[in-house]
Amino acid sequence: MEPSRILLAVGGGIAAYKVPELVRALIAQGHSVRCVLTEAAAQFVSPLVLQALTGEAVRRALLDVSEEGEIDHIRLADQSDLVLVAPATADLMARMAHGLANDLVSAVLLATQAPVLVAPAMNVNMWNHPATQLNLELLRERGVLRVGPDAGELACGWEGLGRMAEPAAIVAAANRALSSGSMSDQRVLVTAGGTTEPIDTVRGITNRSSGKMGFAVAAEAARRGAEVVLIAGATSLPTPEAVRRIDVGTALEMRAAVLEELECASVVVKAAAVADFRPREAADRKIKKESLESDAISLELVRNPDILQEVCQRKGTRIVVGFAAESHDVIEAARRKIRRKGCDLLVANDVSRADSGFSADSNAVLLITPDGAVEDVSLRHKTEVASHILDRVEKIRGERNA
Ligand code: CTP
Repeated sequence: MEPSRILLAVGGGIAAYKVPELVRALIAQGHSVRCVLTEAAAQFVSPLVLQALTGEAVRRALLDVSEEGEIDHIRLADQSDLVLVAPATADLMARMAHGLANDLVSAVLLATQAPVLVAPAMNVNMWNHPATQLNLELLRERGVLRVGPDAGELACGWEGLGRMAEPAAIVAAANRALSSGSMSDQRVLVTAGGTTEPIDTVRGITNRSSGKMGFAVAAEAARRGAEVVLIAGATSLPTPEAVRRIDVGTALEMRAAVLEELECASVVVKAAAVADFRPREAADRKIKKESLESDAISLELVRNPDILQEVCQRKGTRIVVGFAAESHDVIEAARRKIRRKGCDLLVANDVSRADSGFSADSNAVLLITPDGAVEDVSLRHKTEVASHILDRVEKIRGERNA
C-alpha cells in the first residue's frame, strides 16, 4: 500500500478519545496524517496530543487569520488523498449531507474532491432516527464510504449500534478506500468450512470440509479492496489479511451470523459445507458407555435450515454465489440445485475426485448460471479458482450496472 496523505476530520463525540490511537495506527502504515477538529471535538481530545503525534499543526477555526495564513482550508481539502471523518457524529453527517460549510471541518468536506470515509459514532436512538438514516442514504448515494458503527455497550449507557469502529477496522477501511481495488465499493460476506452438530459435550457430527476454498475467496475479495466478513465453521486456517472473521460451530449459529451480517453485504459467497441434519437433542454431558442399555445407540436427526435458500429469498440487489458438492451426474444435479436455491452463480465441485474438492489445495469446478450455461474451470490452485469466481461476480455486477 502506497503511503498517502490523510486528512482526519474529528467530530465532537466521546469516541474522539480513540483518535490518538487511530492516528498512531495510520502513521504506522506509513500514511501522513493532518487533523482538523470541530470546536466540540477539542473538548474530547487534546489538539496538542494530535499535533505531537502527527507532527503537523492542528486546525480548528475557519476564519482565523494566522491559521489560514499557514495553510488555507481549500489547500487542506486539495492536498489530501483521503478525508477520514472519525468520529462522524449525527450532527456532522447532517451538515455534510446538506452541504453546510459554516465551520472548518464542514467547509473542508464540501471543498474536497478526495474520497471521504466516515466512521459514525453516536447514541443508538440517534443512529436509528429516520433523519440520520436519510442523511446516511444521501451520503452513500454520493459515494461517501462508511466503516461501522459497531454494536455493543455505548458510553451513554444504552446498548446497540453506535460504537465507533475499532481503529484497526478504520485503518483497513482507509487502506481499501485508498487502493484502486476493483471491488472497493463492495461488501462481501463469505461462509467457509464445515459446521459441527453436537451429539454431547465432546462429540459431534461434521464433514471433511477444510475451509480452504472459502478462505481463498475471502482473501481475494480483500485484495480487490472489498470489505470482507468471513463466517467460518471448523477450520484451523489463519484469518486472511484485512478480513473480519466470525467463528461459528453449528448450522444454526452460522445461520444467525449470516442473517445478522446480510444487511450490509452486496455480495454473498456461500462456500461453507453446512450439515444438513443435526441431532434432535444434544446431551449436556459426555455420554458414558456404562449408562447405555445395549451396545447400539440411535440418534434422531432433524433437518437444518437451508441458509443459502433463505439468503436467496432476501437477495434484493445482492449477488449470491452458492456451492454444490456433487459426487455423480454433476452438471444436471448442479442445474437443478441453482434453480432450487435461486442464486446467481453456482460453483459445482465433483467431490468424487481425489485431486480437488474438500481438503486439497487445488480445485476443478464448473460455474453454472441460472440459464443452465456451464463454464469448466480446470484444475488449478484454489487462489486462482477464487479469482475466477470473483471475476464472474464482477462481470455480473458490471452487466447489472450497465
Ligand atoms: N447450504 C446451506 N444450508 C444448508 C445446506 C447447504 O446454506 N443447510 C448451502 C451450502 O453452503 C452450499 C449450497 O447450499 O453453498 C449447496 O450445498 P450442498 O451440500 O451441495 O447441497 P444441499 O443443499 O445440501 O443438497 P444435497 O446435499 O441434497 O446435494
